Amino acid sequence: MAIEYNKRTHSCGALRGTDIDKRVVLAGWVQSYRDHGGVIFIDLRDRDGITQIVFDPDHNKESHDLADTYRNEDVIAIVGTVRYRPEGMRNPKLATGEIEVLCDETELLNKAATTPFMIKDDVEVGEDIRLKYRYLDLRRPKMQQGLMLRHRICKIIRDHFDEEGFIEIETPFLTKSTPEGARDFLVPSRLYPGHFYALPQSPQLFKQLLMVAGFDKYFQIVRCFRDEDSRADRQPEFTQLDVEMSFVQADDVIDVVERCLAKIMKQVKGIEISTPFPRIDYKEAMDKYGNDRPDTRFEMLLGNISEVAKESEFRVFKQAIDNGGIVKAIAVPGGAEKYSRAQIDSLDKWLQNDFGTKGLAWFRVEGEKLSSTIAKFFTEDQQRRIIELTSAEDGGLVLCIADKEDTTNAALSALRLKIASDIGLIDDDKFNFCWVQGFPLMEYDEESGRYVAVHHPFTSPCDEDIEKLDSDPSQAKAKAYDVVLNGIEIGGGSIRIHRNEIQRKIFELLNISEQEANMKFGFLLEALKFGAPPHGGIALGIDRLVMLISGLNTIRDVIAFPKTQRAQCLMTMAPSEVSAEQLDELGIRVLHPEMKK
Ligand code: AMO
Ligand code: AMP
Repeated sequence: MAIEYNKRTHSCGALRGTDIDKRVVLAGWVQSYRDHGGVIFIDLRDRDGITQIVFDPDHNKESHDLADTYRNEDVIAIVGTVRYRPEGMRNPKLATGEIEVLCDETELLNKAATTPFMIKDDVEVGEDIRLKYRYLDLRRPKMQQGLMLRHRICKIIRDHFDEEGFIEIETPFLTKSTPEGARDFLVPSRLYPGHFYALPQSPQLFKQLLMVAGFDKYFQIVRCFRDEDSRADRQPEFTQLDVEMSFVQADDVIDVVERCLAKIMKQVKGIEISTPFPRIDYKEAMDKYGNDRPDTRFEMLLGNISEVAKESEFRVFKQAIDNGGIVKAIAVPGGAEKYSRAQIDSLDKWLQNDFGTKGLAWFRVEGEKLSSTIAKFFTEDQQRRIIELTSAEDGGLVLCIADKEDTTNAALSALRLKIASDIGLIDDDKFNFCWVQGFPLMEYDEESGRYVAVHHPFTSPCDEDIEKLDSDPSQAKAKAYDVVLNGIEIGGGSIRIHRNEIQRKIFELLNISEQEANMKFGFLLEALKFGAPPHGGIALGIDRLVMLISGLNTIRDVIAFPKTQRAQCLMTMAPSEVSAEQLDELGIRVLHPEMKK
């Protein structure tokens, strides 16, 4: 008998004790099958939850016999009556755990082949298999919850920006290269052989043009494309919340974004995040955390012990300082006992391999004194100062690195995070947002022998630093801001240059010739001539935000169809070869990899 599955009365997660005796129509997937002395119990699953269905031969022999043929992942429909589970059989862990449905009628809607892995959360299965059968992986409750959370977050964002007077406007995907510093994905043009579109690395230029066009407040939840190596928090295509506003200063952009983030935390996690978020100066972040995305959930801050190092008798430290380097240290609470010599050696090896450090000096803290093989090179006063500069406590372990500033910071910040995670200093329930400001506008790149923009070349210098552009550009700060959550950069933006003459000056400093500037962004430069309002904006990484809020470790888990670390889609097997006809049409000949130098 056909069941009107299009007239489902409830989802599989909906029924409660208040629904007793209701006649219901449910449909979904067979999660599990149990035969208890002739009575069959099936857990029926949909995206909303699980309901226990009972097939009792004494009640309805025909449906019982049909249910006897059901196996995992078959798609079925049932009609039945809700009743209490017997006392003692109720499951308080399940939303529908109080009830079950006694089946009157059932229908097999589709038989399923045996799946390559079990559809449940705690199944041990390699990510490659999960990605190949992504539609099965996405049946697992945890994956579904991640994507449903993502939907809710995007909905809150859209409502927030709508209420604040922003307009969502789409910008092109087939476009020209945008200046976010990654490699472009190119799309060949059939109509203009030898010419290519670039997929946008962000809508940066278009959103600025929308300000010139007078839209005042724009936002968009939009895909961006960057041909860079994938990582846990990086995908070749990812989603941004992109925002741009006219007649604003940095504080205005910061305000509208942090209120949105606080709203998201309140509505999806029930967590009250107080605004304004703390703000950290770029230099302070580098000094104390060794990076520009500080994880403020725990202390163990970096102490600069260069002064002490210089005065000490320890050759390694003195030399590092003489060579223009620095010496910094962290103090691991209780580390004297927690870390053996062998463990310190293995940390040392890791840092040498991954960060190019030359060693890891250490001291155990005993009251006001330090003890280790090298402690003898430090006077009592110097030892006291090291303890003070690292806020070390009795029983702590002080770990020091002497090297070039960049190397020291990179290595110590990684060490700080690793140790905090190893000894359980990180509270997973904490959500610490902060803003980082005071970034330099440009940095001198030794390799290419020129200045490069720290953000992008449309970032405005701070008003008071305009003169420094002539004297010492590296000292000029940018009107830029990054927002960081638990040590991960979730967004960044800036006030833009809205006057053509300053834009040209910046291009000059960045060694971008007039010809090159005109070729790449001529349309923007021209637009700036026609009455561009002062404007600024920001972009947040939606994937990263959802990953952090769901407590997952990779953005792949909150993207329905992600790419592997090697930028492949294992389900469709993209990228793939194309036919000779398609290539001919595009005027393209492929050099085989082995022919490519
Ligand atoms: P930015 O390049 O800093 O700024 O990007 C903004 C945010 O996007 C996220 N993000 C990524 N997420 C996943 N995979 C990636 N490959 C990836 N790259 C970036 C990060 C990052 O903070 N146009 C400027 C914004 C502006 O100035 O308004 C821009 O795109 O969370
Ligand atoms: P050495 O004098 O080379 O035997 O080093 C003595 C200690 O100093 C060892 O624990 C080394 O790991 C450490 N060390 C060596 N070079 C550095 C450095 N650049 N920074 C920090 N510690 C170092």
